[in-house]
Amino acid sequence: MKIAVVGAGNLGMALIRNAMRNAEIIAVRRRKEKTQEMEGVEFVTDIEEAGEANIFLVALKPRVFRSHLETIGDVAKSKPVISFVAGVRLEEILKHIENPFRAMTNLGIEEKGAIACYPPETAEHLRFLEAEFIYCETENELDAMTSYLGSSPALISKLFHAFVISALHQGISYDNALKAGMHAFQSAAYLYSKYGLEETIRKIATPGGTTAEGLREISGIEKGFMESLIAASRRVDEL
Ligand SMILES: NC(=O)c1ccc[n+]([C@@H]2O[C@H](COP(=O)([O-])OP(=O)(O)OC[C@H]3O[C@@H](n4cnc5c(N)ncnc54)[C@H](OP(=O)(O)O)[C@@H]3O)[C@@H](O)[C@H]2O)c1
Repeated sequence: MKIAVVGAGNLGMALIRNAMRNAEIIAVRRRKEKTQEMEGVEFVTDIEEAGEANIFLVALKPRVFRSHLETIGDVAKSKPVISFVAGVRLEEILKHIENPFRAMTNLGIEEKGAIACYPPETAEHLRFLEAEFIYCETENELDAMTSYLGSSPALISKLFHAFVISALHQGISYDNALKAGMHAFQSAAYLYSKYGLEETIRKIATPGGTTAEGLREISGIEKGFMESLIAASRRVDEL
């Protein structure tokens, strides 16, 4: 199977690193000279050179995608075109592309990660990727995933960084702080999804103990975190 990745930039390269485990890749970007040799990946500069691909993934900036809709449609014909482009809706894509789908992910996809899909059957065209699929019921839900799945690693990295810095302040080495942080963030997600917030706190916090002291201080950041995700989500409507 051959996969075309149109737009081999930050997201496109992350998708390629995952997809190259199970498929041959034709990667389209303007500046071919910026690429390193990768086994199973052919870099080209024109979308027209990707015509033999079976499936097309698009990771262009919204403005660039809009200006190339017609070309991509002509090259892909009736083959599936899966857009990872923020904010360009199916109604607009359908004017030039016969068989379009939408998806959203983040740079973690280079390792494994998750892909949100709309409509849900989009996932059937992405089985060559090692990923967990999130099935969106509406296109608005997929649009919101631009913030909650696409951008959120940058926002959460800020919280992770604060974790590391405070651990350094308390005498933990940088490497040990990183390890502790990775496990603590993963454990928090696991425990929250299994037990919910209250049960997780009940199991961890002792009356008058360390956790309670930390919880007393943390309430200030919750609103800011929510506002930041919602602001990122609103921005999608302006793209
Ligand atoms: N970055 C993320 O974390 C992330 C997460 C989720 C979704 N997305 C979505 O992914 C899309 C791309 O974002 P990005 O951050 O990956 O952008 P980017 O790093 O700027 O990548 C865009 C790529 O498009 C290529 N390109 C530009 N014009 C082209 C043309 N005419 N023909 C072929 N290729 C062309 C560029 O090639 P050159 O580099 O050679 O100029 C570049 O490789 C956006 O719609 C964004 O919403 C990004």
